Amino acid sequence: MEIIVCKDNNELSSKAAELVGDTLYQKENPILGLATGSTPERLYEILIENNKQGDITFEHAASFNLDEYVGLAGTDPNSYRYFMDEHLFNHIDIKKERTHIPDGLSKDMEAACKNYEEQIKSAGQVDLQILGLGLNGHIGFNEPGTDFAGRTRVVELDETTREANARFFDSIDDVPTQAITMGIASIMEAEQIVLLVQGEKKAAILKEVINGEVTNQVPASVLQRHPNVTVLTDVNL
Ligand code: F6R
Repeated sequence: MEIIVCKDNNELSSKAAELVGDTLYQKENPILGLATGSTPERLYEILIENNKQGDITFEHAASFNLDEYVGLAGTDPNSYRYFMDEHLFNHIDIKKERTHIPDGLSKDMEAACKNYEEQIKSAGQVDLQILGLGLNGHIGFNEPGTDFAGRTRVVELDETTREANARFFDSIDDVPTQAITMGIASIMEAEQIVLLVQGEKKAAILKEVINGEVTNQVPASVLQRHPNVTVLTDVNL
């Protein structure tokens, strides 16, 4: 793991944007793995600016998001499809049909999850996976106790995760109890992983992730086993 401590969120987001830019430049058909949440918001703003200025293009890119809430349509402002459209896809030159997000409304969840894995496989490997870190150490919605061999599937959200994400909803009762998430095994297949960790409230869990034992109680600790991980953080380590 390469750990880069940045002075603030803007610096860590700019460094992440450089890594995304490198992938877009180097790969003929770049495949990006993307995350939602507060952490990557500034990164997406920078990518939009760079795209508008003509410094980068998503013309040949495809994307796969980590997760989606079960029960929310893409038109729901709290869905991750809506988040991605608003924060990135509507403002860059990516082809919408090449942006993939698990289907939270599928009538057959098992088939939808299998289909998502197949779509990733047929696109090839994810070249660069962006991750955020949950306060409980989750990546995607792979909560503590997760199976490291897990693939895309429906999971129950931890109460701590629902509480952390309640800030986006009118009330905690509106936060879905389930999500579809790419599994740890799916995430670990990416060629390169960039973990973004922003804010001192994540200091304790980040230390466990990078220095603690590799355990499914801290799902992100599995990243210690990946050959190409960059941690970009503004946490004072
Ligand atoms: C989002 C995701 C989650 C978040 C994590 C951190 O797609 O997969 O793992 O990255 O919950 O969220 P923020 O950035 O809101 O603190």
